[in-house]
Amino acid sequence: MLTRRTLLITGGATALVGGASVVGVAHGPGLSKARAPWQQAGESFGDARIDALAYAILAPNPHNRQPWQFDLVGDDRIDVYVDLERRLPHTDPFDRQITIGFGCLLELLVMAAAERGYVATVTPFPDGQPSPRLNGNRIAQVRFERSETAPKDPLFQSVLARRSTKEPYDTEQPVASSALETVIAGGQGDLEIGGTLEAAQRTRIIELAWQGFQIEMATDLTRRESVDLMRIGNRAVVDNPDGIDMGGIPMGLFKMTGIVTPEGLDTPGSTAYNEGLKMYHPIIHSAQGFVWVKAEENSRLSQLQAGRAWVRMNLAAQQIGLCVHPLSQILQEFPEMAEPYEAIRAELNVQPNGVLHMLGRVGYTKFPAASPRWPVESKLISSNA
Ligand SMILES: Cc1cc2nc3c(=O)[nH]c(=O)nc-3n(C[C@H](O)[C@H](O)[C@H](O)COP(=O)(O)O)c2cc1C
Repeated sequence: MLTRRTLLITGGATALVGGASVVGVAHGPGLSKARAPWQQAGESFGDARIDALAYAILAPNPHNRQPWQFDLVGDDRIDVYVDLERRLPHTDPFDRQITIGFGCLLELLVMAAAERGYVATVTPFPDGQPSPRLNGNRIAQVRFERSETAPKDPLFQSVLARRSTKEPYDTEQPVASSALETVIAGGQGDLEIGGTLEAAQRTRIIELAWQGFQIEMATDLTRRESVDLMRIGNRAVVDNPDGIDMGGIPMGLFKMTGIVTPEGLDTPGSTAYNEGLKMYHPIIHSAQGFVWVKAEENSRLSQLQAGRAWVRMNLAAQQIGLCVHPLSQILQEFPEMAEPYEAIRAELNVQPNGVLHMLGRVGYTKFPAASPRWPVESKLISSNA
């Protein structure tokens, strides 16, 4: 997976960046429209449920697919569905990560409701826990009830500032154990949340994560799934404010001049492909430590809980200026990943029936701009329930 960071600056493209007229053509629209939902959260939509959903859709979620749909039923209920077309069948064959993303969403929904004086009661998978993949049934039913005593969550203050920070981290700025403990304490629920700053273990996990990244890139189906979701240049990001955001003026130029194309990124050995690998190496290798979320069993409920815990950890980190970045490749259940998948489980002592739901690196750098989102209104459906 690549990020919005500049993928490659070749001599030719650097020269082009200097040409004002070319910049004007390639620049296209700014990214403010794609980021508008971060401003819209906090506005009143005239319905407390939509007000809370406007925050919830800012949740972290795999490949930023934003696979949610909301049916407002009666005047106090939200039925949450998955848009089955927005799953990731190759990197996430059992929809485990997609479900974790829903956990992140539900946690923010509960927090945002409390801010407005509502208790939001979540009933997960009211129609049963689908297996091996999700189906069209409800992910959750959420009931809103007015309450003067709805407890407010201090982590809510960081919802708009929260980021998944996918840049290289400062290798001169180690993470203190107290900071790691703050992140671990942020997660809640019945899951086993842990972390490490220990040098030897950190090096072992970095090597596994790097192996996993290379396998995902070398495997045609998984690489293609990511490449198909890359939004290269501002125009592509604004038209589809989801997927892997590679906006910015240089990207627009690279696309326009044919230096960065989906075909190039999808061709092992090409310049774009090799630069992608080169770009990700320092990202993974600058990890100053890791945090993780394990569960005793890989149920749909534990997946939702893992998401709820992860977003809380992300918010707790944000509050102390610490960056986090999920590295999920070695957690993925496609056959080519089997070796590092087993190795990370052994490294982190995952029991035979257990599962490692989240693994993220921690460290310090400047927080990036907010990632794109579809507006909350675009996610409202009517299923005539
Ligand atoms: C279950 C899950 C898995 C994720 N895995 C990765 C990953 O492997 N690599 C990555 O760069 N980001 C990963 N992310 C982060 C998402 O890409 C990120 O949340 C999304 O792009 C939106 O960006 P934001 O969190 O900054 O709003 C993951 C997030 C979730 C919830």
